[in-house]
Amino acid sequence: MRRLRGTLRRPVALAERIENASVLDRATAALAEAVRGALRRSGGADLLHGVPLGQPAHPPLVQLPIGCWASAALLDLMPGTSRASRALIAAGVAGAVPAAAAGLADWSELHREQQRVGLVHAASGAMATALQAASLAARVTGRDRRGKLLSIGGLTAAAAGGYLGGHLAFRLGAGASHAEPVAHLAPLGWHDLCRARDLPDGRPVRLPLGYLNLLVLRRGTEVRALADHCAHLGGPLHQGRLASSGPDLCVVCPWHGSTFRIADGAVVHGPATARQPVFDTRITESGRVQVKPRT
Ligand code: FES
Repeated sequence: MRRLRGTLRRPVALAERIENASVLDRATAALAEAVRGALRRSGGADLLHGVPLGQPAHPPLVQLPIGCWASAALLDLMPGTSRASRALIAAGVAGAVPAAAAGLADWSELHREQQRVGLVHAASGAMATALQAASLAARVTGRDRRGKLLSIGGLTAAAAGGYLGGHLAFRLGAGASHAEPVAHLAPLGWHDLCRARDLPDGRPVRLPLGYLNLLVLRRGTEVRALADHCAHLGGPLHQGRLASSGPDLCVVCPWHGSTFRIADGAVVHGPATARQPVFDTRITESGRVQVKPRT
């Protein structure tokens, strides 16, 4: 009991315990598989991940329910605002649906520890939505006092879920680009990489450049280079397969299937939403491949 009280006093300790809660793994694996199957059938995965936005869609989408529910709670403190509160709660419940769908899509392609925290984060969000829906039902049937109490419960659940969402994003790195440090680790200017004739034709290989690893692909006399560390969660892109998207040659990450255009690192398919860093290349007269970070 004392241990539980201590944990609750330090929320990060609770979040870290959830990270290590292997008891969640069976439910997590089953739900993630179901979500991935639904995404494959729907064809809407890229939209839910936020690929057209260039960043995960879930964080901006949750602003609507949270904002509506917090506003309704404030209005509840003022007289004559019951209709406005009801409208805000209803809008929040409706807005929670796309927010949850986007969150589930991202969650289904995370690492095990991230998925454990994400599962509790999602359960908190579901609890918040259920309590707000119950609050709305109470209010429309004239039980305003009960409705206000349920709203407070819903906001509390949403706040707990929000804390875990922060832990997921900022401590466990879910949603952030894992290739962002490349811009700071790549030495400026042109750098010798290897002899062009040592590169196999048409097969990506990994080559070191200072602290970085690059995916390097030669096709005939053309050489392309990208950061090897996948922007989604750091998977080894050189182990991925090559694929075509229209006229463009792409590489598909072996971990979760993010697909990047080789020429410029653009995201063709998620779950990654951030562009993969690309390097300019040239072959010197002596046949050496040189690279430089593309700015
Ligand atoms: S690490 Fe997830 S798609 Fe590359």
